[in-house]
Amino acid sequence: MSTRPAVLVSGSATGIGRAIVGRFARAGWLVGVYDIDAVGAERAVRELVAEHGAAAAVGGVLDVTVPEQWDAVIADFTEGSGGRLDLLVNNAGILFGGRFADVPLDAHLRTVDVNVKGVLSGCHAAHAALRATAGSGVINVCSASAIYGQAELASYSASKFAVRGLTEALEIEWRDEGIRVQAVWPLFVATAMTEDLHIASTDALGVHLTPGDVAEEVFAMAQPRRGLRRVLSPRVHTAVGLPGKVMAVVADVAPSLVSRAVNRRIARP
Ligand SMILES: NC(=O)c1ccc[n+]([C@@H]2O[C@H](COP(=O)([O-])OP(=O)(O)OC[C@H]3O[C@@H](n4cnc5c(N)ncnc54)[C@H](O)[C@@H]3O)[C@@H](O)[C@H]2O)c1
Repeated sequence: MSTRPAVLVSGSATGIGRAIVGRFARAGWLVGVYDIDAVGAERAVRELVAEHGAAAAVGGVLDVTVPEQWDAVIADFTEGSGGRLDLLVNNAGILFGGRFADVPLDAHLRTVDVNVKGVLSGCHAAHAALRATAGSGVINVCSASAIYGQAELASYSASKFAVRGLTEALEIEWRDEGIRVQAVWPLFVATAMTEDLHIASTDALGVHLTPGDVAEEVFAMAQPRRGLRRVLSPRVHTAVGLPGKVMAVVADVAPSLVSRAVNRRIARP
């Protein structure tokens, strides 16, 4: 088996995924850049190889909604990594903002296909390779919109609740197999996803995080937690940035009526 740890990141041609592959490549990992955008993935691989050497990055096309593509990508990637899959980051995601009835049904259904079925298919396809790699893990890119259902982001928010549930279930199920499963929960991040997003909650909260902030958090989450720390604090969910961390803690202790009132306030134009 190769000595270089290996991470595969879906949707990593741009945005948060691109920052994540950059962060891991900088630390000497082999990174797998896979995206529905073939040209973007190829460009990212070229840039990473130029910066970190030929052994730093591979990649290609992956539409996360197509299970057969997941199977082919995992097979290709592990062939090049000497069988290793230390980390799978399910990052690919889409968002359609707006009032629920104004957003075409197709867009809602596509959101579920990419954000839910894409993550589910990725976990399923990668399971054997993860199990074969000691100390492996999965990090699912969730969102602060899984704290409480978000107006004007209804299907996106619902999709991230599904990611939250899948993460929690697999964290318990796969722990015995030595696979650590976690989710990262950013608040709004400055990427193409939020560029043209004008809804009440972005106006109220602003867009303060960079893709690099999320990548740093994901890199920290990927570090091994050993001994008592692992048992006492499995850290399934990690919010990004101070406002997001405060919101997550408050939501954990506040009665649901309070959470609803806060979210109504945020969503008021
Ligand atoms: N930007 C934010 O405010 C924010 C906040 C919290 C969570 N997130 C989550 O972070 C992740 C990345 O978002 P981003 O902000 O970088 O968005 P982005 O739009 O900048 O990048 C998303 C990437 O996913 C790719 N992609 C889209 N559909 C795909 C598919 N079917 N298969 C494979 N790749 C596909 C795109 O080509 C693109 O490269 C998403 O899961 C998103 O929900 C984003």
